[in-house]
Amino acid sequence: MKRKSFILIAMLLIASLLVTACGSKPAEAPAAAPAGGDEGPIKIGGIYPLTGAIATFGQSSKKAIDMAFEEVNANGGLLGRKVELVMEDNKSAQADSATAAQKLIQQDKVVAILGAVASSNSLAAAPIAQEAKVPMVSSSSTNPAVTEVGDYIFRAAFIDPFQGQVMANFATNDLKAVKAAIMTDANSDYSIGLANVFKDVFTKNGGSIVSEVSFVSGDTDFNAILTTVKNAQPDVVFVPSYYDTVGLILNQAKNNVGFPENVTFLGADGWDSPTLFELAGDAANGHYFSNHYSPDVDSPEAKKFIEAFKAKYNETPDALAALAYDTAYMVFEAIEAAGSADSTAIRDSLVKIDLKGVTGAIKLNEKRDPVKSAVVIKIEDQQQKYFTTVNP
Ligand code: PHE
Repeated sequence: MKRKSFILIAMLLIASLLVTACGSKPAEAPAAAPAGGDEGPIKIGGIYPLTGAIATFGQSSKKAIDMAFEEVNANGGLLGRKVELVMEDNKSAQADSATAAQKLIQQDKVVAILGAVASSNSLAAAPIAQEAKVPMVSSSSTNPAVTEVGDYIFRAAFIDPFQGQVMANFATNDLKAVKAAIMTDANSDYSIGLANVFKDVFTKNGGSIVSEVSFVSGDTDFNAILTTVKNAQPDVVFVPSYYDTVGLILNQAKNNVGFPENVTFLGADGWDSPTLFELAGDAANGHYFSNHYSPDVDSPEAKKFIEAFKAKYNETPDALAALAYDTAYMVFEAIEAAGSADSTAIRDSLVKIDLKGVTGAIKLNEKRDPVKSAVVIKIEDQQQKYFTTVNP
């Protein structure tokens, strides 16, 4: 009897120990796991023009962002979690940019947003991100007003007061121009802002503006305004617009309106697209534009990026891709530095970001704008050739 009851008690003890041991796991699990909502992948949104007037900008950007997400996930993700990209197509439009921001914040509950490209589109999305306190980092919007929306809005690109000054000084000092014409897209914050800066700096340099004309995105016939510009006999024509209109303008200037060979067209980052060459053909040759990066200038960071991009997509990355890649890493590094995927914590560490990017060192001033060099590109044989670098 004694022996039997001892065995029974022993068995009961073991059984109860086992039950406690098994039972303690689920009981402890919630305490060990991070607070609610912090499980699963870290979701980051993207707002890019994947279709519409400036679709090559969105496509290039997306390729680089996809690559960045794959890289970071292959290295174990961030804070032990995967990163997940929720990419929205803003169709190159303002209204869709706002809708995309709303969807990403309310439905997908992203912790940060990358994008947009066009300044007008970023300006449509930024107030929504600011209001929701979700940090938004535009890869390539250069109009100063974008980050002025509020303290949750950042960018990876230099701003237009610098870019416009680079091209005005280039016209005066390198091309020895004294008479300039300006062609502006009246619907684009980017275009209007750059036109104003160019005008300011060029006239301060002693030059004069002999003609100012405007058009709107979507226009296809520029013959009339180009004739006006030609008759004013400028040395240079500044066209701060996107490739879809610039390609047609250059084509019609040469082939329809018969611009003299010695009139140089100047532009800015919005010219950076292979479609510009499709639209303009050899009429693009001999003209110049400012940009954020050239694959011809290879820092160690750029070299690594260009090689990886070529291996993955079999093409050379443009400035949009380089900036978008840097933007993704700004957010990744901010999350890592914060040790948290909380939107406000990300914002607070974005302010202090110090990234050795593909497009140069990215450190932000008090306006959340980086101060970076620009490159001037010359178009030769329907190709972009690095011409020079201008430091801020
Ligand atoms: N800077 C442009 C804007 O603000 C966008 C852009 C950047 C386009 C870089 C091409 C290359 O609207």
